[in-house]
Amino acid sequence: MGSMNKFKKIIGINVGHDGGCSLLVDGDIVATMAEERLARVKYAYGWVNSLKYCLEQSKINLSDIDLVVFSDYSDKIANGFDGGLSLFGLPKEKCIRVDHHLSHASSTYFTSPFEESLVFVFDAKGNKNSTESVYIARGNNIKKIAENPINNYKKGIVAAYQAFTSYFGWHQNDAGKTMGLSSYGDAKKYSGYPLFNQDKNGLFFNLLENHTARGLELFCKNHNISVPPKFSTDHNEYKDMAAWIQSEFERVVIATINKFQKETRIKNLCMSGGGALNTVCNTKVLQETDIENLHIFPATGDPGQSIGNVLYGYFIYNNNKREISPWRNDYRKSVYGNTDIKKTLLSIQSIVDLVIPRSPRFTYKKVFNIEKITAKLISENKIVGWFQSGSEIGPRALGHRSILCNPGFKDMKEILNDRVKHRESFRPFATSVLLEKMGDFFEFSLESLFMLLVVPVKKNKIREIPAVTHVDGTCRIQTVTKKDDSLYYNLIKEFYKITSIPMILNTSFNLAGEPIVESPMDALRCFLSTKMDYLVMGDYLIEKK
Ligand SMILES: [Fe+2]
Repeated sequence: MGSMNKFKKIIGINVGHDGGCSLLVDGDIVATMAEERLARVKYAYGWVNSLKYCLEQSKINLSDIDLVVFSDYSDKIANGFDGGLSLFGLPKEKCIRVDHHLSHASSTYFTSPFEESLVFVFDAKGNKNSTESVYIARGNNIKKIAENPINNYKKGIVAAYQAFTSYFGWHQNDAGKTMGLSSYGDAKKYSGYPLFNQDKNGLFFNLLENHTARGLELFCKNHNISVPPKFSTDHNEYKDMAAWIQSEFERVVIATINKFQKETRIKNLCMSGGGALNTVCNTKVLQETDIENLHIFPATGDPGQSIGNVLYGYFIYNNNKREISPWRNDYRKSVYGNTDIKKTLLSIQSIVDLVIPRSPRFTYKKVFNIEKITAKLISENKIVGWFQSGSEIGPRALGHRSILCNPGFKDMKEILNDRVKHRESFRPFATSVLLEKMGDFFEFSLESLFMLLVVPVKKNKIREIPAVTHVDGTCRIQTVTKKDDSLYYNLIKEFYKITSIPMILNTSFNLAGEPIVESPMDALRCFLSTKMDYLVMGDYLIEKK
């Protein structure tokens, strides 16, 4: 192989939790997969299935690979780590590792539309136990200008949020539940009790005893703060505490960004790391700082590491020229067409109860104009599973692995929870809205491509979209354009023609506690084991008998 071909085929592998693999060829990400989607276990460790998927998908052999870039949370992997791939003929010299936060920064900056940007990375366990990093990115360069120097991940911003979430009796990663609950509470109740202190570098550390429920309990006890006891089954008791951590989280994130924005005067911001999943805070960053343009990589948690790794390999390690091509979509292309779907339907139709215990039988038909038919069903308050081409790469369903409903029907949320999603009643559902119509319903006019912003609903419109308006009068939105995703756009447009509502309730297609469905078989299993009314896959409409 001549030097011309050097580093053109790059693999990125995240070996930690949320493991996964990506493959980049000549600057394009041709395949990417998170291990959880194949293993069917949320946040799964490992990467062997994802690696196999990426190689098979792109018909490339391991021996053709020029560079493999590894990362792990807390940067636990040693220099020279090769993941055992040298046993399969891949020379050790082709394996390098990248700093965890630099991978997060690469994932968000190199997918952004910016030539120059501030980059803020914040996550739970960080890189070498620094939990916040700030960079300036220009051209191919991402230069660190600050990092949390406390060298103790238990003292980070996200760690404090985890302590609260654990205190309420949920998994530390279920921050979205705490955020949903916070809208019901009043943070003023705890206004005399800051949870963070700022150091001389301008970054913040939390004051809790540690990042667990017990650590928070001790903090409250030591400061004579009266709080309901931990692990109550009545989550309503925690609404003011949830508002407390949410407002403190917002305060320190905004203060950090403000400080570095003022110092650098850069108006573009890229964010990444699990902290950037806090959609309420993300919107406030736009409202309460001088940042004018915000890009958040959709796979902003560690499932995005493998993509950050290949982008680091291509643009920084290998210094290939950067041509700006911002991500406007977040799904895997050219997988699971009508042929694959029909194959699955045919193969198990007559034996479905062998494969899915106690399953009802189903019928299917291929239809013309699937958007029109599906829009009609949604307008009739049916719950529809919507499966189109490849799955979303990040954690949000954006119209490829979605469950869709009528946002205008006031009982829809309850019915959807009761029959399919089984989520806590205080958690809101999100919506996908036609970009050109968003101004009619929301006090907001910027794009929200990846459903990472929460915006106010116009007061006179709240009654029209009760199933997606949260208790505080806000809504989490994804803006959709014809250019970016014509099928999904057409579906919403058809729904609009029937109802005059230019949006659809959109929630992720999965069983409670499971990852988003990946294959047609996963989708069928979810459909048949819940009380979903219809399943649409490709051009097929599937109904229970
Ligand atoms: Fe991370």
